[in-house]
Amino acid sequence: MAQLLSLSRAARLVGASRVALQLKIRSGELPSFDGMVSADDLLRLYPGIKLEEDGGFEQVMQIKAHAFGKRVRERMLPSQEILAQRLFEQGTELADLRAHLQRYHAMMEALRSRIGEQAAQPGMAALGAFLDAQLAEILGAAEAPNALAVMDDMLRVMSAHVTLHPSRHDFFVEGADTLLEAALRAGLAVNYGCSNGICGLCKARVVSGQVQKVRPHDYVLSEAEKNQGYTLLCCHAAVGDLVVEALETGSAGDIPQQQIVARIKAIESLGDEVRLLHLQTPRNNRLRFLAGQSATLSAGETSAQLPIASCPCDDRNLHFHIERNAKDDFARQVFEVLRAGDPVTVFGPWGDFVLRAESPRPILFVASEAGFAPIKGLIEHAMSLDTAELLHLYWHAARPTGHYLANLCRSWAGALDNFRYTAVAEGGAHDLVAGMAKDHADLAAFDIYLAGSDTFVDGAAKALAQQGFPAAQLVATTT
Ligand code: FES
Repeated sequence: MAQLLSLSRAARLVGASRVALQLKIRSGELPSFDGMVSADDLLRLYPGIKLEEDGGFEQVMQIKAHAFGKRVRERMLPSQEILAQRLFEQGTELADLRAHLQRYHAMMEALRSRIGEQAAQPGMAALGAFLDAQLAEILGAAEAPNALAVMDDMLRVMSAHVTLHPSRHDFFVEGADTLLEAALRAGLAVNYGCSNGICGLCKARVVSGQVQKVRPHDYVLSEAEKNQGYTLLCCHAAVGDLVVEALETGSAGDIPQQQIVARIKAIESLGDEVRLLHLQTPRNNRLRFLAGQSATLSAGETSAQLPIASCPCDDRNLHFHIERNAKDDFARQVFEVLRAGDPVTVFGPWGDFVLRAESPRPILFVASEAGFAPIKGLIEHAMSLDTAELLHLYWHAARPTGHYLANLCRSWAGALDNFRYTAVAEGGAHDLVAGMAKDHADLAAFDIYLAGSDTFVDGAAKALAQQGFPAAQLVATTT
């Protein structure tokens, strides 16, 4: 029987995105069995897989990781203990297979000798000759190793596959990541609080598979909980493939409001008119939020509500894009007064400008000027989920230096087949929407996320309405 693989694992093995495989399933090129694909069908579609060329996936991961500003090596290597346990599991599996083979071998020997004893009976000599020929063919064939099977074994050592119940969302745990970190990196909004083994909010039940404690925790699981398989996602890693019953956040309203005193890690220049304010929260008090949400920052006597421009997967490091504005006291503080190490109080998160993760539609992102900040969060979230057939970013900026992270956008377009980037420097919101309608004849087939000034968002929303775009598929915020 052919080996069946989950779509995520299959995508990893052939170095493609999940979206690319989904498109092949939809077009009928790749049969699917209850969400799984067979290794044989995969090899037929991707015959070029070679053991010595297993870098395709890693290359895409590295470009993605670079684009997301992650440290790649840190993510790719599991701890020695986890590696040893995974190798032990594979060794046990191999020993079981060997024992099976030996039993089959003994059975064949016994069968051959029985046939030899009955050789005088009609048909037995022919049966013996057939068996000898078949055995000679099987034992003599110099079979090439099954590249996919070998790569799958390697993948099982380097990472573990986790399926969440009841949602059936899945993700891989790589390197030294805990289950919580890996789920957040995959764009999944699992329930959690402190990230640090204190609150117990990340409690989840392991239905099958084995976990290993990788961080100490103060929260104490009861004996009954332990017996039922409960674990803390923020303090455990996966030894092998897992099925876990876990709560996931349904909406922005499920996230509690928090107040945290963070420190400025750096203030970087993104051109003349924008600064990247990088805050770092204490290790044991991080900000839980959904991509696209905002937070209120207070420094000294000034405060401002600003969209978070970074990913919830790195909830200790918060990024904000601050535009130069002489009339805005907080912006003046950032440009002229604040320095690395200064405290900034963070309240939040606020707002429901978040991704509709379950929508099957492709996505158009429309940002004007520093409206790019919340859009960046949503794009990174959509990339992590890897379920949208197409992500197309239109970034409108009138100033020559207005596309202040254009290189990042170009690197996304270079790394991902399903990402397009259009920089718009001329015209207003109506012109931009007209350009989108030219690029995509059926705008109503998309979800649109729109962020920018009141005037821009208002103009773009009206232009979209005139094009007959369904209001329910538009998610907008003003910055
Ligand atoms: S998030 Fe608080 S214990 Fe895991």
